Amino acid sequence: MEFQEIARKRREITDYKDELISDEVMKRIQDAAMLAPAGNNLPSREFIVVRSEKMLKHLEGATPFVPWLKKAKAAIVVTGRPDVSKYWLQDASIACSYIWLAAVDEGLGAAFGAIYHAQDAAESAKREQYVREALHIPADRKILAILGMGYPAEEKAPKSPPDQSELLHYEIFGG
Ligand SMILES: Cc1cc2nc3c(=O)[nH]c(=O)nc-3n(C[C@H](O)[C@H](O)[C@H](O)COP(=O)(O)O)c2cc1C
Repeated sequence: MEFQEIARKRREITDYKDELISDEVMKRIQDAAMLAPAGNNLPSREFIVVRSEKMLKHLEGATPFVPWLKKAKAAIVVTGRPDVSKYWLQDASIACSYIWLAAVDEGLGAAFGAIYHAQDAAESAKREQYVREALHIPADRKILAILGMGYPAEEKAPKSPPDQSELLHYEIFGG
């Protein structure tokens, strides 16, 4: 698929068909995650690919906002290492975008489950601890997000860019 088409087609898809994702497709999505740029080219992010139905159902309990994980056929948990890079959050976030767009390119639908919460340390710790325990993630890793995916069982209209006059400025803010 051409990039502009992928960018427009990417929507949050939270209902999935009961159809497995092949190893080849997952491999291409994993490769995309690893191709994402990182500040100073430091390896600050790691990924956990989850395909076990039992674990996907369990991860649904990580926050109230990921009920769709129980129907997902795979998830990629994106973690970051503050000890490796001060840019871990940006690195992990960019990798999330690559994963989401690569999933769309494969004909999958994906959804983003926020785990790390920058403004609520207690909530973040609670969510991260749930995922950490389930997946045996070491304590020094931050857990940014879970991207769930599967073949879409719902259709959403492609996006168009929003009114550019409000969000886009030329040369100077307000210009
Ligand atoms: C940082 C971030 C956090 C998000 N957290 C959640 C979440 O916890 N649960 C959820 O269902 N969707 C979550 N989303 C998905 C957004 O709500 C969704 O992308 C947005 O409403 C725009 O819809 P679209 O993806 O179809 O364009 C999150 C998206 C981002 C970028």
